[in-house]
Amino acid sequence: MHTFATYTSSVMGVCELVATRILNSRKREPIAAVLDTMDALGFETRFGQRPVLSHYHRTPTGWCLMFELPPGIASREVRDKADHFAEQTEGTVTMRALGRTLIMDVCLRPLPERVPYVQPQGGDVPLYLGESATGPVVVGLAKLPHLFVAGQTGAGKTNTLRAVVVAALQAKAQVVIIDLKGLDFAVFERHATVIDEEAPATRRRVVWLGFSLQH
Ligand SMILES: Nc1ncnc2c1ncn2[C@@H]1O[C@H](COP(=O)(O)OP(=O)(O)OP(=O)(O)O)[C@@H](O)[C@H]1O
Ligand SMILES: [Mg+2]
Repeated sequence: MHTFATYTSSVMGVCELVATRILNSRKREPIAAVLDTMDALGFETRFGQRPVLSHYHRTPTGWCLMFELPPGIASREVRDKADHFAEQTEGTVTMRALGRTLIMDVCLRPLPERVPYVQPQGGDVPLYLGESATGPVVVGLAKLPHLFVAGQTGAGKTNTLRAVVVAALQAKAQVVIIDLKGLDFAVFERHATVIDEEAPATRRRVVWLGFSLQH
């Protein structure tokens, strides 16, 4: 009985070890692929310094890796190679500055086709703008009073603005929509002031709106 128990536990121990090894190698695979691509791109200063993988973490759907780029790499070279890098790794590359250090974030997270709408929570009027490679993008209206939405036909501009209107209405904000196209926001007519005609009255309202925003 004792021998059987010892045997069982040692077999389980081996299984566990094998399972852990497989898991670890699976974990390393995408990270190794990114490191290989980084090597192949040959980011290197003339003193032989290379980017350093300073942090990586798993997201629910992929991996995010943070590289610190050594000073001395031309920003133009980084920009050119970042696109190629994103293509090779099928990830999203974003550049940012952390103090005086240039950081390159590589996220291997395929964007999902659909994401359920979750009402954002927060102090001021929180607006859920959509999904990025690092997760949901939520901004506060108090911190972001101006928003410029641009994109090619069918990119989702109208739907983005509709999501903004819904969030603002749910936060009990007073909403005025000026939409001379006259179709996209008609659905909000019972909940917001929707102006859809180019008339002197519209101009007066725009002036009034500008005035009330300044005071
Ligand atoms: N957040 C979203 N999630 C899923 N699908 C979306 C989303 N936003 C837009 N779409 C899809 O893209 C289509 C076009 O979106 P939308 O009408 O907002 O684009 P647009 O940029 O305003 O286009 P246009 O330039 O023609 O006015 C929608 O009918 C929908 O199928
Ligand atoms: Mg539109």
